Amino acid sequence: MPEAAYADARTAALARVQSPPDVRRPHPWLSRLLAPPGSGRLDLLRAAVGGKVVLVTGASFGIGEALALRLGAAGARVVLAARSGARLQALVRKIVAAGGEALALPLDLTDPGQVEAAVEELAAIPGGVDVVVHNAGKSIRRSLGRSLDRAHDFQRCMAVNYLGPVQLQLGLLGAMLTRQAGHIVNVSSVGVGLPAAPRWAAYLASKSAFDVWMAAAAPELRPGGIHCTSIYLGLVHTRMSAPTPGYRGLPGQTPDEAAQVICRALIRRPRSVGPWWLTPARWLATPLARPVAWLQGKLFARGSDSPAAQGAR
Ligand SMILES: NC(=O)c1ccc[n+]([C@@H]2O[C@H](COP(=O)([O-])OP(=O)(O)OC[C@H]3O[C@@H](n4cnc5c(N)ncnc54)[C@H](OP(=O)(O)O)[C@@H]3O)[C@@H](O)[C@H]2O)c1
Repeated sequence: MPEAAYADARTAALARVQSPPDVRRPHPWLSRLLAPPGSGRLDLLRAAVGGKVVLVTGASFGIGEALALRLGAAGARVVLAARSGARLQALVRKIVAAGGEALALPLDLTDPGQVEAAVEELAAIPGGVDVVVHNAGKSIRRSLGRSLDRAHDFQRCMAVNYLGPVQLQLGLLGAMLTRQAGHIVNVSSVGVGLPAAPRWAAYLASKSAFDVWMAAAAPELRPGGIHCTSIYLGLVHTRMSAPTPGYRGLPGQTPDEAAQVICRALIRRPRSVGPWWLTPARWLATPLARPVAWLQGKLFARGSDSPAAQGAR
C-alpha cells in the first residue's frame, strides 16, 4: 500500500479505536506520568501481529475490549473470549465492519469443561494461536472481617485469575512448543510487586499466583521460541475499579491507554512491563517494611469497604 494511503487508513482506523465515552480520567497529566509506557503506533502493531491469531480473554469489557479493537484495526485475527456472548458478538461486528477479522469464543474461565472445549475449538483454527493475552480478571476488595462466610470469593478469584488461565495456556502450549513460536502475555497489577495491601487478599493472592507461574514458565519456554510478558498496570478506570468510590478521583489510565501498554508489549515482547516507579518501590519495600506496615494499618482503620463490597453476595 502506498505510504499516503497507508497513513490515511491508519488515521481512519485510529479514529474508530476509542475508549468507551463514559470513561473519564481525572488528573490526565499525572496519570500519564505514573503509567507504564504504551504505544499507539498501529503500523508497528500491524508489523507485530498482522495476520496472526491473537486470543484476548476478557474481551467483552474494559481493557480487553479496547485491546481487541486495536488488534482488529492492526490486522490481527482476533479471538475474543469472555462470558458475555452478546457483547462479544457486537464487538466482532464492529471489528469486521472496520475491515478486521474476529471470532467470538464465549467462555467461563471458572468452568474447566468450558476451558477444555475452548482449547479444542482454538486447536481447530488453521495455523493455531500465535499470541495469548490473559486479560480476563476478577477483582475483589473486601476486608477479611466481611469475608468470614465468603470462601467463594477466594475460590472465584483463583479460578478466573489463575486456574482457568493456567488450564487454557497448558492446552495451547503444546502447539506453540511444536511451532517453536508464541507470545504469552499476562495482564497483572502493580499490586503484586508491592507490599500486599489490606482488603485485597483474594485478588492479590490469585494475581500473584499467575505472576509466579509466568516467572517460572518464562525461562523454560524462552529456549523453545516462546516469549512471556508480565504487565503490571496501575489503576485503570474500568468497570472493575468503579465500585470503589475512593478510586474515582485518583490518577489512572483509560481502558484504551492501558490497551496501548499491552500493544507496546506485543510489539517489543519484553519479559515485563511496569511503571518507572515500580522497581524503586520494590527496592524500598524491604528497608521500609515496618513503617509501611504501620501506615497500612492506619489507612485500613480509617478506610472502609465499598458499598458494593458490603452488600454483595
Ligand atoms: N482496572 C484496573 O484498575 C486494573 C489494574 C491492574 C490490573 N488490571 C487487570 O486488567 C485486566 C482487565 O481488567 P478490566 O479493568 O478491564 O476489568 P473489566 O472491565 O471488569 O473486564 C474484565 C474482563 O474479564 C472477563 N471475565 C470476568 N470473569 C470471567 C470469567 N469467569 N470467565 C471469562 N472471562 C471473565 C469479563 O467478561 P465477562 O464478564 O463477560 O465474562 C471482562 O471482559 C484484569 O486482569 C485486571 O486484573 C486492572
